[in-house]
Amino acid sequence: MAVFMMVLGLFFVMLCSCTALLRWNEVRYRKKGLPPGTMGWPVFGETTEFLRQGPNFMKNHRARHGSFFKSHILGCPTIVSMDPELNRYILMNEAKGLVPGYPQSMLDILGKCNIAAVHGSTHKHMRAALLALVCPTMIKDRLLPKIDDFMRTHLSSWDNKVIDIHQKTKEMALLSSLKQIAGIESSSIAQQLIPEFFKLVIGTLSLPINLPGTNYRRGLRARKNLVGILRELLEQRRASEESHQDMLEGLMRKDDNRYKLTDDEIIDQIITIMYSGYETVSTTSMMAVKYLHDHPRVLEELRKEHMEIRGRKRAEDPIEWNDLKSMRFTRAVIFETSRLATIVNGVLRKTTEEMELNGFVIPKGWRIYVYTREINYDPFLYPDPLAFNPWRWLDRSLESQGNFFIFGGGTRMCPGKELGIAEISTFLHYFVTRYSWKEVGEDKLMRFPRVEAPNGLHIRVSSS
Ligand code: HEM
Repeated sequence: MAVFMMVLGLFFVMLCSCTALLRWNEVRYRKKGLPPGTMGWPVFGETTEFLRQGPNFMKNHRARHGSFFKSHILGCPTIVSMDPELNRYILMNEAKGLVPGYPQSMLDILGKCNIAAVHGSTHKHMRAALLALVCPTMIKDRLLPKIDDFMRTHLSSWDNKVIDIHQKTKEMALLSSLKQIAGIESSSIAQQLIPEFFKLVIGTLSLPINLPGTNYRRGLRARKNLVGILRELLEQRRASEESHQDMLEGLMRKDDNRYKLTDDEIIDQIITIMYSGYETVSTTSMMAVKYLHDHPRVLEELRKEHMEIRGRKRAEDPIEWNDLKSMRFTRAVIFETSRLATIVNGVLRKTTEEMELNGFVIPKGWRIYVYTREINYDPFLYPDPLAFNPWRWLDRSLESQGNFFIFGGGTRMCPGKELGIAEISTFLHYFVTRYSWKEVGEDKLMRFPRVEAPNGLHIRVSSS
């Protein structure tokens, strides 16, 4: 009996302490003018619920508090905005103090000249320098030949094999970008770069705790090694007379270069390009393969488009700009894949000063999660929103409507959009014209917070 009373007493004390802690945390953030919402536990906030419940966390909070609410997730007091009009306003108004709000570990590891870390005129300069590298003329004349050459080889010996398409698309995105950046193929530089890059990616998604054995420390070390390799590459280029038709040459050009960058800026720009296109391009490609497998009619239509292109060419002829422009259905498949899978849930901003937003007062330094996922399933924009229906995108106005946030929006809209589409389209071209495939192994896919196949996505490939 005494033991029972003790357990009961302990339980009661714990209950009271938890309630008091939760209450204290709510009172702490009960500043006048803040939007409605709950802040959860001290330090941890509502992170566990957010990660466990995924998109339902957002939906439940919206049902209780409306489309603009406060919470405490991933280590920061955060405003979640699910209102499309407001989201557009936030993305358009960086100049009013709504700057990128990516986690500290990401900023530390990607470097202080990284595009997400710079604002105002420095951002304009870095962005213009990047756009000059990935503009349509560059894609047409310099990048597409490299992408084509790479995809042909990368997809050359998959016949009669079981492959993990998750792994293959990751390798594809990274190796294809290395080839475009500096013509790096399976050389010793690639062998040194690849493992460092993977450690860097993991580090950017970790807590910024600089202790031995942490992913953050490994990420910082990987950055240091990557910077060393890239610096050496710059020196080699300067010492050589050879001409290279790649991004690095564009960044280093001395003559008529309007966007002169320092070596540190060039290095961070290269890391940015590798990092930004890596997960987005690889995951979209993997999910396209998944949806095509599950929707034979879509695959048939896509294959028809690519067989017609191949029919006009000899086997050794590469994909050219005009071919790319004629891939209307492929573009539609890529958009529908990005929409239905929601490869990007939203983007992060933070306030540089206290400001009024939507009639509420947002304190300085708070993070704003511009959560764009729900708009992808809006039945007014996308009738029968859960159906995989690429045909809906053949009406090009869907791509230019104001609620199209797949590539972000406003001043930070993705500069690599057309390059990413060119890479995925070329990958799909060689994949569907060469192969048929069947899923094996019933692999599970995770949809939140990132789309991934934790144990891989295995397919048996055969020549079609
Ligand atoms: C399917 C492929 C891609 C998707 C879905 C995608 C998506 C996005 C999104 C949503 C943003 C906005 C981030 C924000 O507002 O904070 C963004 C920005 C960016 N993307 Fe992409 N991206 C893709 C491919 C690429 C590629 C291939 C590159 C390589 C050049 C790239 C480079 C960038 C850069 C540098 C930014 C930051 C722009 C700035 O801050 O001004 N992206 N991307």
